[in-house]
This record gives sequence, C-alpha cells and structure tokens, in this order.
Amino acid sequence: MSIDYTQKIPNNVQLSDDKQLQRALEKWQPHFLDWWKEMGPEGFQQKDVYLRTATSVDAKGWASYGMTKMPDYRWGIFLADQVPDRKIGFGDHMGEAAWQQVPGEFRSDLRRLIVTQGDTEPASVEQQRLLGQTCPSLYDLRNLFQVNVEEGRHLWAMVYLLHAYFGRDGREEAEELLQRHSGDRNKPRILSTFNEPIDDWLSFFCFTYFTDRDGKYQLKMLAESGFDPLSRTCRFMLTEEAHHMFVGETGLGRVIKRAVEVMNEIKSGDPAAVRGAGAIDLPLMQKYINFWFSSAQDLFGSDTSTNAANYFANGLKGRPDEDQYQDHVAKDATYEIEEVGDDGSIKTVAIPLRNAMNVIARRAYIKDCDIGVQRWNRVIKKAGVDFALKLPSERFRRTVGVYAGHHFTPDGKPVAAAEWEARKYGWIPSPDERAFVKGLMRQVTEPGKIAGWIAPPDRGINNLAVEHEYVRL
Ligand SMILES: [Fe+2]
Ligand SMILES: [Fe+2]
Repeated sequence: MSIDYTQKIPNNVQLSDDKQLQRALEKWQPHFLDWWKEMGPEGFQQKDVYLRTATSVDAKGWASYGMTKMPDYRWGIFLADQVPDRKIGFGDHMGEAAWQQVPGEFRSDLRRLIVTQGDTEPASVEQQRLLGQTCPSLYDLRNLFQVNVEEGRHLWAMVYLLHAYFGRDGREEAEELLQRHSGDRNKPRILSTFNEPIDDWLSFFCFTYFTDRDGKYQLKMLAESGFDPLSRTCRFMLTEEAHHMFVGETGLGRVIKRAVEVMNEIKSGDPAAVRGAGAIDLPLMQKYINFWFSSAQDLFGSDTSTNAANYFANGLKGRPDEDQYQDHVAKDATYEIEEVGDDGSIKTVAIPLRNAMNVIARRAYIKDCDIGVQRWNRVIKKAGVDFALKLPSERFRRTVGVYAGHHFTPDGKPVAAAEWEARKYGWIPSPDERAFVKGLMRQVTEPGKIAGWIAPPDRGINNLAVEHEYVRL
C-alpha cells in the first residue's frame, strides 16, 4: 500500500476517513515539532541533509532519498500491509483471529507495552543531540541524522496506536511522551539506560549496535502480537531499524579496521602506542563491548518473569521469530536457567517455559550480537593481527535478573566484590580511557575527509560516492 503524502500527516492508514482521529493527531503534530526543534540534533536544524523517507511499505524500493531540512522531514504513520485472516500465533488464544481492536482485559498491559517502547524512541534522539558537533565525517553525520529522524518516526508509530486505540488515556500518554526527557531529574525517560547521554561516537556506534538491537528484538516480539495494529506497526519499524543496526556494525567495524591499520603502520600492538597514533586500540574496543553488551542485556528484564509469562499466555508479546519454535502454547514445558547462590555458586534450575520468555529473547539477541563480532574478527585476522574480540559472559556486570548482585569476570567466573572493584578497569573503560576516546572526537566536515580514529566506509549511501556532500553546511 503506498503512502499518501498529500496529507498533513503522511500515512497509509486512511487517516482522512477518521476525522476525529485526524484532528487529534494534527493537534499533537506541532507539539512533536516543538519537541524536535528543542530536543533534536543541536546546531543542524536548518541544514540540508541527504535523508531517506519511506514511500511505501513494500520490502523492495520502499524509500526515496533527497536533501531535506530535518524539521521538514515527513514523519508519518506507516503500517505494514495487513495479512489476510491473520491468526494469533501463540499462547492461550493461539489460532483465534488476530484482534483489530484492543481486548478490554488486556488494555492496560498493551498500553504499558506501547508506552514503554514509545518512550525509548525520542529518548535516543535526546541522548544523541550533541553528537553532530564531533562527527568524524559528513557521511557519519548524515547517518546519525537518519537514525534520529527515524526514531522520531517510531515515536509517531506508537503515538498513532495510542491515539487510535486507547481513547483519552492514549492521548494523555502521547503528550507525556514529549514531556519526559532523557536525563531530566523530574521527568526522566522510563528506562534508566535511556537517561545517559551518548556524547562520543564510539558510544554511539556501540549504542546502535547493542542497544538498538535490543530494540530490534523488542519489535520482533511485538510484531508477533495478537493485537494486529501493533504487529503491523512493528513489522514496518523493523524495516527502518535494519539501517540502525548497519550504522552500529559498520561503525564499530571501521574503528577496528583503523586500529589494525595503525598497528601495521607503526608495527606495534602496544595499546599506548596505538593511542599515541590517534587510534582506539583493540583491548579498549573490547572494554567498550563489555560495557555496552552487559548494559543492553539488562533491557530484556528479569530472567524469570510473571509479566513475560502473562504477555505470552495472553497473546500480547511472543518470542522473536515465534515461527521457528515448535510448541507455540508452551504450557507445560520448562526451560533451564541458572541460579546463583549467596556464595556465588551456580546451579541449573528448570522453570516454566512461559516465565523464561525474557531469557529466551535475550539469548536469541546474544547470538545476533555475535554475528558482527565474528565479522570484525575476520577484519582483524585479515590484517594479520593476532587478537580476537568476544562477547563477555551473560553473567558479566548485570544489574537485572539472576546474576544481579553478584560479580563475575567477563569469562563468567564468580569473583568477590572487592576483587571486582580492584580489577574492573581491566574489563570496562576507565574514566581516563573514556576521556581519551572523547579527546579523539573532533568535528570533520570537509566532504570526503574522515577523522583519524576511524576508517572510511566501503561505500556511500544509495550508490553515491563516499565523498558526497551528505550534509550541506
Ligand atoms: Fe526505533
Ligand atoms: Fe533504532
């Protein structure tokens, strides 16, 4: 279904057929724009940026590209096409027709799921608002803004559902999504990770690789939902999300590529020498991976969760790629997770499968994270460098779930709190190392030029040259 761009709010949901809803959303639209101008990318609002805009929800050829000032971006409401006769694919309502309206008994659960997802979208824009000032190239600057405008569109996606299906409560929630702000002491964003500023580009690439990927998995689970409008919304968001994963994976890959180039140039793998030559050494990359991977895993919630069990039982939130499982009801099955004793000893216990949905999703996420790590390792190997990056143990540095309150090394060995404190900066970036990374971040905006700590991309955007002037300053 193609998207109607003649409307004030571009959409493929026949918004003009529902005047009341259209009016409500047109009232919200200027509030969104005020938020964007105040909390969106600082310093570039009046610049032309080479952005892609969705023009249809087909997997092929769904977007068009052009120079746009960000406040003029056509944020809109795009749902994936309806699957005819779609049935609920899991839980106690398995096989029943998917819901086109919100079932009364699940109203507050669904609203909470939508608001929590919706809150992360503008939060990430707020977290990243100063990054443009230290961009390593125009290509990267453009990618940052593309991610930002699409996170803004994801907010629209959730706000549409709130307005269209949750009446007055939904409209109030939509307003509050613009009133909470990342890091605001009085009205913070809902999830704590989304209240930390992302103020250097290495953290931005880690965020898009690890944290956005949690988002991908949340969307995959919601795309399974029995509430059909939510499923369709999330399916299309996943199309956009793929670019965010790309920015993270290639961004980190280019930092790693630059590190091994420098190592070969100076004929030394000594981290101090690599840093002296203006690159980020591989052991420090490992520490950033350890840090971001562990914090992103906490976003999946407790390993054993009655909320997750209820969402699954009620058909609200499935497993990522629910199709690939055999048993979609999961009623009497069990799943093995670890339990940590007071002395740090670990034993395996079986819990009801439905209660284990968070850990099942988290482990699928871990596998997905590892794909990029293996790709980066091939770059390192190809350069003739003897070093391999790896994801730390799922036990490492957790504050949510069964491992919280205990201390483990990146290899998953239990250690006492004192030992953890003494050794932690061997595993995660120290304040000095963070300061070093920040010190590398200087704005490069000459077309085709690139900062010294990162390799150029293999190719440009939409078949354009790497040197293209992606942002006109
Ligand atoms: Fe998003
Ligand atoms: Fe994203």
